[in-house]
Amino acid sequence: MKIMPEKEKELIKDILTSYGVDNEDAEITANIYVEADLKGFHSHGIGRFPQTITSIEVGNININPNISIIKESPAVATIDGDMGLGYVIGERAMKLAIEKAKNVGIGAVATVNSNHFGIAGHYSEMALKENLIGIVITNTEPAMAPFGGTEKILGTNPIAISIKGKKHVYSVDMATSSIARGKILEALRLKKEIPENCAIDKEGNPTTDPKKALEGGILPFGGPKGYALALAIEIIAAIGGAQMGTNVKGTATVTDRCTKGDLFIALNPEFFGDKDEFMEKVDALIEEIKNSKPAKNFKILIPGEIEKMNIDKNKKGIEIDDVLYNKLKEVCDKKGLNIEKYF
Ligand SMILES: NC(=O)c1ccc[n+]([C@@H]2O[C@H](COP(=O)([O-])OP(=O)(O)OC[C@H]3O[C@@H](n4cnc5c(N)ncnc54)[C@H](O)[C@@H]3O)[C@@H](O)[C@H]2O)c1
Repeated sequence: MKIMPEKEKELIKDILTSYGVDNEDAEITANIYVEADLKGFHSHGIGRFPQTITSIEVGNININPNISIIKESPAVATIDGDMGLGYVIGERAMKLAIEKAKNVGIGAVATVNSNHFGIAGHYSEMALKENLIGIVITNTEPAMAPFGGTEKILGTNPIAISIKGKKHVYSVDMATSSIARGKILEALRLKKEIPENCAIDKEGNPTTDPKKALEGGILPFGGPKGYALALAIEIIAAIGGAQMGTNVKGTATVTDRCTKGDLFIALNPEFFGDKDEFMEKVDALIEEIKNSKPAKNFKILIPGEIEKMNIDKNKKGIEIDDVLYNKLKEVCDKKGLNIEKYF
């Protein structure tokens, strides 16, 4: 069955407010879930929402947080999220990074005591909307072994980078694991296999079984180079005082208190050189790439293009499987909401 994006937003908002989340925070959170589903990042769309509800129920998400800046200089800050919703803390951090980049050319804002924030690209694109470059990284609880290893130490550590020309945009949003953990959880829910060469079982053997992959580990993308990048993100995301490696908890196991860190960066091209010239060069490069000769059976895409195409498709309705529907119904029933109203 399908749900329309505006109904998905309403459903998420209504559930959150029924748990006592204030209207504005519920609106921010619902918007980011819907954006994930529209872009085709279903692993971080409404399918992940029941986990947020469990986090609220067990008290690992504070619905009434006192989000505060604990360290600050003109270009840099660290925000203590007081264990609030990661989506709300993420928006607050990126807004501050943008403000700093407008004032001094660069803004870099770290967070501690935050929770899962969904799709990293939502926040890098907040900068893009202000004609700034946005860069966002976060670490997660262990999911990946180091290259050549068998023990999970690193997170799936996504990175999002968004850049704007005058006509075109580049917006990459990707985990540094060969597959997002959310996609493995989705495969488990849908009783599907995961693609080959993405994961190992606990003995280090390749597996396509999502259950074995969760017990074992996900492989980094691009072999040792993906591992190297994931390790850098693991460390830099913790710059504000958050945890690294096996001390990172609670991004997927919602019954653990979350100890991950994020870093939100905005760069203002105006402070580095001629902004117009820079943006025109971005356009020219993107056009050169788009006009270059594709290999047989390939279409050359710019990062972010697939998501744009997905938005056009998914705005006509977002697929909800039976397992997810029943989970959402359970939450609605508990809160006296009629799920049928949203479908
Ligand atoms: N918050 C967290 O802890 C966390 C952890 C992991 C992942 N995530 C999120 O999960 C989502 C999914 O991540 P993923 O790694 O599965 O993404 P993905 O593999 O679906 O896509 C990665 C990126 O590659 C680009 N891309 C794909 N094919 C392309 C092509 N042919 N040419 C050019 N570009 C192409 C896409 O535009 C996209 O930006 C992301 O939003 C990520 O932020 C979040």
